[in-house]
Amino acid sequence: MADVRFDGRVAIITGAGGGLGRSHALLLASRGAKVVVNDLGGAFDGTGAGTTMAEKVAEEIRSAGGEAVPNYDGVDTWAGGQAIVKTALDAFGKVDILINNAGILRDKSFMKLDEEDIDKVLTVHLKGAFNVTKAAFPVMRENNYGRIVMTTSATGLYGNFGQANYGAAKLGLVGFMNTLKLEGARYNILCNTIAPIAGTRMTATVMPPDMVEKLKPDYVSPIVVYMCSEECTDSGVVFVAGAGYFSRAVMVEGPGITLDAKKGISIEDIRDRLADIKNLEGAQPFNQSNEEIARLSAALA
Ligand code: NAI
Repeated sequence: MADVRFDGRVAIITGAGGGLGRSHALLLASRGAKVVVNDLGGAFDGTGAGTTMAEKVAEEIRSAGGEAVPNYDGVDTWAGGQAIVKTALDAFGKVDILINNAGILRDKSFMKLDEEDIDKVLTVHLKGAFNVTKAAFPVMRENNYGRIVMTTSATGLYGNFGQANYGAAKLGLVGFMNTLKLEGARYNILCNTIAPIAGTRMTATVMPPDMVEKLKPDYVSPIVVYMCSEECTDSGVVFVAGAGYFSRAVMVEGPGITLDAKKGISIEDIRDRLADIKNLEGAQPFNQSNEEIARLSAALA
């Protein structure tokens, strides 16, 4: 089979001045995509800004024979989202691919989190993805083509001590994807999510050096870039990737029980049937909330 190519495609990768975003950008460009390398250029906690990080990666792509322009706007403002997409339109005339990757950390136990730590992390990760996607989506719709990737985290899917702000933002992105997959479908706009595990400046503080080496961002980018391709027909899937490991994470609902509501439902009914309520044998995912609500119809009848 032929290689997966991106000739004629235009991609925006947010937070592509280093780590995973840089790796996604280099791979996309090496397969023919024209790339907007966005990065605010600050520290991993969201302080500071600068042009060097995005410029360096754009230059790296150009010197390898690819096409790239840098963009230094923050995803965390509405104007920033508009400006990032405008950079793509001015340089390349359209947007086919958007990887919402930019992110910061403000790790603290919940008791110690202050308002700024909460606002900043929710704003960069969650509102940031909204800001850029809001600007890109109409362009994709007009062209009847789009591939959008969200970046979640095991912290959002499963939890991690000291990351209440980050986990909430990251799982919010999965909720965002769940609706975009429905609203984008008729315009050939697909939206999937990556839950990466990679050694980057974000994780270098908590990982030993040999682990950072084994968790190269390069090992995550192939599945992310696949999600950006014409060949990808999935939408609404959360893929997990790191160190050569690949899998799918999914929200499921157990078969449950139906109590006779007309007879009244007591706290003790719940206590006595808790094991059955929690049972996951035969659990299934739903494609949208209506499917879950349809399940109640047995109880409603
Ligand atoms: P990183 O710190 O190298 O990359 C994040 C990039 O986003 C940085 O270059 C930073 O300058 C940029 N950025 C920060 N705020 C921005 C803003 N307002 N506008 C534009 N750019 C901004 O870290 P890494 O690990 O490459 O993270 C990439 C994404 O992957 C993040 O969303 C992170 O939460 C997520 N992630 C990473 C994991 C890992 O194991 N490295 C695990 C799970 C998720």
